[in-house]
Amino acid sequence: MSTQLPNDQTQMMAPSLAPGSSVRSRGRNVLAVASGKGGVGKTWFSITLAHALALRGRKTLLFDGDLGLANVDIQLGLMPQLDLGSVVTGKVTLTQACSHYERGGFDVIAGRSGSGSLANIPLSRLQLMAEDLSMMATAYHKVIIDLGAGVEKSVRQLARAAGTILVVTSDEPTSLTDAYAFIKVTALERPGADIRVVVNAANSTREGERTYATLRKACEGFLKFSPPLVGIVRRDMRVREAIRNQTPILIRSPNAEAAMDVETIADKLLAE
Ligand SMILES: Nc1ncnc2c1ncn2[C@@H]1O[C@H](COP(=O)(O)OP(=O)(O)OP(=O)(O)O)[C@@H](O)[C@H]1O
Ligand SMILES: [Mg+2]
Repeated sequence: MSTQLPNDQTQMMAPSLAPGSSVRSRGRNVLAVASGKGGVGKTWFSITLAHALALRGRKTLLFDGDLGLANVDIQLGLMPQLDLGSVVTGKVTLTQACSHYERGGFDVIAGRSGSGSLANIPLSRLQLMAEDLSMMATAYHKVIIDLGAGVEKSVRQLARAAGTILVVTSDEPTSLTDAYAFIKVTALERPGADIRVVVNAANSTREGERTYATLRKACEGFLKFSPPLVGIVRRDMRVREAIRNQTPILIRSPNAEAAMDVETIADKLLAE
């Protein structure tokens, strides 16, 4: 597939968040998983990456940062007593809202799922939470933040807790354009930010490489910046099956191509 990204006619957005904070320097072991367009597999990828890291003996925390429609708990079949909703209302601390997910061997902070959205919490509150998360991250080898879709300020604010941003795209033109939009806004707001690309649900590794090349060319051409490829995850029926069964794919179908592709990505990240 040879998708052409449209000419970049959007106006450069002025940076509006406070530049450079202690959060940024602290978040080196924190990875945020972003996308732009929704439904490209961020949550499934975040869970599987956290699981793969835990299987490699790394103390890992998965933070559900989808403030609108949190669903890490749903994909994992969890019924958390406490979630980010309780943190935002000041009932508990972030640490208290954290629980160990025994089956996967990693810790989880669930978002507020099913009981209203957190999408409208003030940015200042979100910044405090991001700072708490950065502090908490010092007790872990890796922290994965599953972000909500979109490029809104709240998403970007949470992404600030992360030293590395993995932008997930599929080969769909809308997904590519939205991934580009996310990269653009983030690169302008945080010059020099460590932004990398994951191609998910690729029909083949070759097609995934082509998808990445399309995105890279747009970034090079318009932003003069070339986000590296972290890896390609192939489309696999067993992803849907695992989600439907609320069981991590690395338990249900560890030999699935998509599962092995995420394991390769985990190895690559740990080799740095
Ligand atoms: N590698 C893959 N192969 C096949 N299907 C996939 C793959 N990755 C994700 N999917 C499908 O995409 C759907 C959406 O996945 P997921 O909920 O993780 O996306 P998301 O980006 O987190 O969505 P949202 O933006 O709504 O949070 C899943 O239900 C799954 O069926
Ligand atoms: Mg999601």
